[in-house]
Amino acid sequence: MNKAKKPCCGEEPEETSPQKTAAEIKQEIKVRYDEFAKEGGSAEGCCPLVGGSAESFALEHGLYSQEDMALIPKLAINLSRGCGNPTSFANIQPGQVVADFGSGGGIDLVLAAHKVGPTGKVIGVDFAPHMSERAKQVMAEAGLSDRAEFILLDIENPQVPDNIADVVISNCVINLCPCKPCVYKQIYEILKPGGHLAISDIVTRGEVDPKVREYFQSIWAGCTGGAIPEDGYLKIVQDAGFSQLKVVARHTLNLKELDEMASCPGKKFSPTFSKEKLAQMQGKIVSAKFLAVKPKE
Ligand SMILES: C[S@@+](CC[C@H](N)C(=O)[O-])C[C@H]1O[C@@H](n2cnc3c(N)ncnc32)[C@H](O)[C@@H]1O
Repeated sequence: MNKAKKPCCGEEPEETSPQKTAAEIKQEIKVRYDEFAKEGGSAEGCCPLVGGSAESFALEHGLYSQEDMALIPKLAINLSRGCGNPTSFANIQPGQVVADFGSGGGIDLVLAAHKVGPTGKVIGVDFAPHMSERAKQVMAEAGLSDRAEFILLDIENPQVPDNIADVVISNCVINLCPCKPCVYKQIYEILKPGGHLAISDIVTRGEVDPKVREYFQSIWAGCTGGAIPEDGYLKIVQDAGFSQLKVVARHTLNLKELDEMASCPGKKFSPTFSKEKLAQMQGKIVSAKFLAVKPKE
């Protein structure tokens, strides 16, 4: 690891909600997901996994195929809090090294590990210790521990190792991070030249009343409080040095999906918005899936 690397936005990223510092937001998020992991997740009331169980949502929305679902231990399904399936469009090849930023309970680690095969490796990066332990448990249950490594680290942190990954995936995580440029800097660093990213994340689209946006940010709840406009988000990706940026899919959340996304990982763990406030964001919260490449030097 390169210990001499500097943070991209200072020790304490500036962009925060109007009422909380970046450090406070991250601590709240870490505790929230750790508590959720301690309980082993839940098959109900998940953020993007709207209506009923995580499994039914995934199948219903084609996020994960039936073949995918058959490979995933129940624990990983219950801990799953994604908004897409980056392994389905990441073009992962046998023998590659895949890093999952904010790997959570390991659902995408399992699928990526099957794709890289016995000569490849997957690396789960997450800052919540109990979540990371659950992902280890999941990989063991799936019989894939020999091709999995874990790094317990903030993905905004410059201690993330350099030039080791062919592919970086991330599923519904970067919206939670106060300093998105910091995360994309670390994704750039961990990728080998010519490597690529495949991301599923939550963004906003269309006009959002600034007061409504400020209100959402002040609570920083679920996977909507930190969501930023898609065009600004994609500019951050390009400014980090990535090329060949391509949005491969978008899904606009309906009110029910929005309600569950806004209280991710579940109403017991996260602050919630009133139905009235959520209605003001309806049609404007989108799950976007995109690819980009780190140019060869
Ligand atoms: C919404 S869950 C998604 C988990 C997983 N990707 C999935 O699809 O189920 C967000 C995950 O990102 C992790 N996370 C959030 N912010 C992080 C940060 N700054 N550094 C590392 N992990 C982070 C949380 O601990 C949690 O496990």
